[in-house]
Parts: sequence; structure tokens; C-alpha cells
Amino acid sequence: MDNRPIGVFDSGLGGLTTVKKLRERMPSEHIIYFGDTGRVPYGTKGVEIIRRYAAQDCAFLLSQGVKLVVAACGTASSCVTDGMAARLPVPFLRVIDPAAQAAVRVSRSGRIGVIGTAATIRSDSYARAIRALRPDAQVFSQACPIFVPLVEFGYAHHPAAHIFAEEYLSNLLPHDIDTLVLGCTHYPLLADTIADIARCPLIDTGEQAALAAEELLREKGLCAGQKQGGVDFYVSDLTDAFEAEASRFLGAPVEGRAGQVDIESVPPVQWSV
Ligand code: DGL
Repeated sequence: MDNRPIGVFDSGLGGLTTVKKLRERMPSEHIIYFGDTGRVPYGTKGVEIIRRYAAQDCAFLLSQGVKLVVAACGTASSCVTDGMAARLPVPFLRVIDPAAQAAVRVSRSGRIGVIGTAATIRSDSYARAIRALRPDAQVFSQACPIFVPLVEFGYAHHPAAHIFAEEYLSNLLPHDIDTLVLGCTHYPLLADTIADIARCPLIDTGEQAALAAEELLREKGLCAGQKQGGVDFYVSDLTDAFEAEASRFLGAPVEGRAGQVDIESVPPVQWSV
């Protein structure tokens, strides 16, 4: 039994879709969430900057005494490999591998689509993870840069979201994909729109990461023994809109106030590269 919290971070509030799944699966776990709302988006930035940001996000979570760090951000997960995070004193879980495993399980034809931020698609992280599991898989990837701002600004159900989804998916659907990985934690809010157009099973990275986190804690004997956990929220830019925005991703009202962290002043963890 281990009642230390699980640390979860994302570039903004999208990672709360992962927190939602973690809460559903493991209600007795306490979660410390850090959303880098002052520096979002990560997906338009270069790999070195994203690594530095992720190193500071991790350092903040470690300062809170977490037992596991979940990178609930497809972009950060694409830029920080397991090998790089090997020096951390606690396990580090990226959303890439659990999503790749689910895609390989679900796909019959091996023709798999992946959508994500520009940095995620450029890194080829999902495609590599999928092909490592199924070498004959054909992976077709598409960056969807406008999705994150659409979701962050509350336009997930606006007709504009449908227009952009049609545009992006028109590059993938001619390849006859039978499975589509939502490679960014913001995208579950667009799932209905995307499913309408893609007409194939969607892989929710947050959901798969929550499953993997549960398995990892069980294997390592790190599950919480308390009855009920909760969530402490921290962001790098706390605005009046926080509660309304966070509850959209969480699918539930936010309980308690969020704290603001001066993330630029947090010394980054050293990735072992
Ligand atoms: N939620 C982040 C991800 O999963 C992306 C948002 C961003 O560009 O910062 O990739």
C-alpha cells in the first residue's frame, strides 16, 4: 500500500481527460495535476523546448512527493523517451505505448491512423511504437494543429470543428484505416465529431494510459490503501476561467481551488541523454 499521490502533467488542461479516466478506474488514488497553462501549446514548439518544459513539469510533481509521473500529453510523451526518464526516482508513464498497444489490439487490417500535434507527428513516436509491436502495420499520420485551440477556446462543438476535422481526415481516410489513435489528450473532446467522419474505432490515449497506470501500480505494489482520493490542481497561469474550462475536460465540477506555480523558476530534472 502506498498513499502517495500520482502526478499527472500536460501542457494545459487537456490532460484532465486522463485524470477523468484515472479517477474512474482508481477512485482511492490521490492525484496532483499540473497544467502548464502559461506556456500552452507545446505542440507548435521544438523538441528541446518541449523537453525542458516537461523536465520542469516533472520536477514540480516530484517536489509534491508523487509515486508515479504520468505524462498526459502526447507532445511531451513524444519528446521524452522512457530511456531519457530512466533517472527519475519514480516510474514515468508516457501515453504513447499504451495507445499503441490498444491500436494493435483493435486493428484487424494493420492500417492505423494517428492524429496529433505537429510536434507529435513530426516525432513519429506513435508510428514507431505501433510498428515495434506489429512490424507489418501501416501507419498513416496527420498533424491537426487547429484542434488544440478549438478545444481550449470551447469550440469543440462548433461547426468549425467539423470542417477542420473533415479537412484533416480527408488525408487519412483514403488509406482505408480501420483504427484511429487520438494522439493528443485534448482530442477526446472532439471524439463525436471525429467518429462521425472517421467511422472506425478511436483509441483514447488517456483511457489507455489510465489502464496502464493501474497495471503498473499493481505490479509494483504501489496502490493506495485509503478509501477515497481526490485531485489537487496546479497551473502556471491561473485565470478566472479555470474552473469552467477544467470542468469541461474533467466532465465534472472542479472541487477546491487551483494553485499557481511559477514553473519557469523550477529547476528541471536532468533527462539522461
Ligand atoms: N495535450 C497536448 C498533447 O496531448 C497537446 C496540446 C499542446 O499543443 O500543447 O499533445
